[in-house]
Amino acid sequence: MKFFIDTANLAQIKEAAEFGVLDGVTTNPSLMAKEGIKGEAAVMKHYVDICNIVKGGDVSAEVLSTDLAGMIREGEALAALHPQIVVKIPMIRDGIKALKYFSEKGIKTNCTLVFSPGQALLAAKAGATYVSPFIGRLDDVSFDGVDLIAQIVHIYGNYGYKTQVLAASIRHSLHIIRCAEAGADVATCPLSAITDLLKHPLTDIGLAKFLEDARK
Ligand code: G3P
Repeated sequence: MKFFIDTANLAQIKEAAEFGVLDGVTTNPSLMAKEGIKGEAAVMKHYVDICNIVKGGDVSAEVLSTDLAGMIREGEALAALHPQIVVKIPMIRDGIKALKYFSEKGIKTNCTLVFSPGQALLAAKAGATYVSPFIGRLDDVSFDGVDLIAQIVHIYGNYGYKTQVLAASIRHSLHIIRCAEAGADVATCPLSAITDLLKHPLTDIGLAKFLEDARK
């Protein structure tokens, strides 16, 4: 399972990279706004800065257009920024066409805002590199988001689709575990959800005892 961090905060991305288990980064316009990154030039520079921290890892950069021509123009500019850039495309009608366009050009894509198995099937048929089901937001409206991950993994397995299931909108470490059980290829998480995987009281108690005995 690949671990991505879902943030545009450079300090957190550095911390996650130094932790040694980081495979990539996802961002979205809300996360960029949260960091106060404004204007096209600043946004583009920020993507390059992120790529330079996550050496070799995929970095999703989202288009803002909702029409095909705009998505192609923006996506090509983003892809030209750095070889690690993955063009993030929303799950809308022109988005499907854009996924197909980029797939045929060999440019990696991440289909975002996915909330149903039918949407995930369309993304795979259009050749998306990643599909991003938002599990936390489904939980928020009383659907089990991890059930959707399991459904998509099952459907893709039936047909051998190569699209990777990227579980997004992860809120805590149990989401990561349940997504791993369901067969997600990637989890994109807040840093805290990743570091919380470390925690177990018996580990702390056991280590304290070993260190105490070593001193005897
Ligand atoms: O990767 C998608 C993610 O950023 C959405 O997360 O917490 O806003 O639902 P959230």
